Amino acid sequence: MTSKIIVRLKKESDNEAVAILIRDSLNVWYREHFGIKEVVPSVAASSVFTRVYDELDPNCCVVAEDAETGRLAGSCFFHPRPTHVSLGIMNVAPEYFGQKVSSKLLAYIVDVAERRNQTLRLVSSAMNLDSFSLYNRFGFVPRVMFQDMTVAVPEEGFPVDAPEGTLVREATLSDVDGIVALESSVYGIERAKDYRYFIENRAGIWGVSVLVSSANGEILGVMCSVNDPGSAMVGPGATRTDEQAAALIRYELNRYRGAWSPVFLIPTDAVELRKAMYSLGAVNTETHVAQSRGPVGPKQGVVIPSFMPETA
Ligand SMILES: CC(C)(COP(=O)(O)OP(=O)(O)OC[C@H]1O[C@@H](n2cnc3c(N)ncnc32)[C@H](O)[C@@H]1OP(=O)(O)O)[C@@H](O)C(=O)NCCC(=O)NCCS
Repeated sequence: MTSKIIVRLKKESDNEAVAILIRDSLNVWYREHFGIKEVVPSVAASSVFTRVYDELDPNCCVVAEDAETGRLAGSCFFHPRPTHVSLGIMNVAPEYFGQKVSSKLLAYIVDVAERRNQTLRLVSSAMNLDSFSLYNRFGFVPRVMFQDMTVAVPEEGFPVDAPEGTLVREATLSDVDGIVALESSVYGIERAKDYRYFIENRAGIWGVSVLVSSANGEILGVMCSVNDPGSAMVGPGATRTDEQAAALIRYELNRYRGAWSPVFLIPTDAVELRKAMYSLGAVNTETHVAQSRGPVGPKQGVVIPSFMPETA
């Protein structure tokens, strides 16, 4: 039986229910479709999304509530930025799979983007036909394909090998303007707020590095990473060339010495970059696709997306 669903913004008192919903939704979906035992280990882990997003984008999570029981049937976060709105992470509670709950959440966020007259962007798993179909029916167009990779990082780390005339260093808050200018010219999106938040790193879970010209300090590349039990990955990042992206990824991977790295998403058309990653021993674990609903500018470099906050 299909329940009556109310769509509304998340309140702070919903946070535990949202964390439970994210854990159960991902664990059940990946177990049923891929036989994976556990994607999210605990509610403490999945609470990273409300913790981070309530700080970064307050009042930007829409939930679906079962009108009869008061139970949360779904949740989805969105991230309004000066140039676009991004969408993620979308979850439906397993008992409500297949009842169009996600379509109701998506309709709300599509409306937010349309009112702002902005493109809505997301990254979705290319191995998830449910979410592919959902976004496809709402008019999203797949644009860039990514391969998710992971690698065993040796105890001594990888040599960073920055291209000649450049060096990689930790980012500081005074780099934010240069980072924003770079990402805007490579990808046409702006999100100073995200980079400031990562670099401030009040939660102690973020890493941010920049690749700069040794001659004049100009910022030529940026790479972030997040290391939390609920979300671990390298990204987002932007550079002009594959060589620069490879150096920055190696730098970020060195935060995981002696362990398997979290995933990082490589654009499948970045042939030299993926060659560099294979030469480290990296393996593929999944594929993702950047999708947009609305116009996007040309990509003039290498973009490494992330799931937190979602970028594409
Ligand atoms: C993916 C997920 C959000 C979908 O939510 P849902 O509410 O169960 O979605 P539904 O099954 O009702 O389907 C959504 C739409 O896709 C359509 N659809 C589903 N499978 C389809 C297929 N194989 N071909 C065509 N359309 C399909 C449905 O008909 C529906 O469209 P409609 O509303 O216009 O009829 C949900 O399965 C989930 O939470 N999964 C785990 C977390 C996850 O994977 N999140 C997405 C991350 S990218």
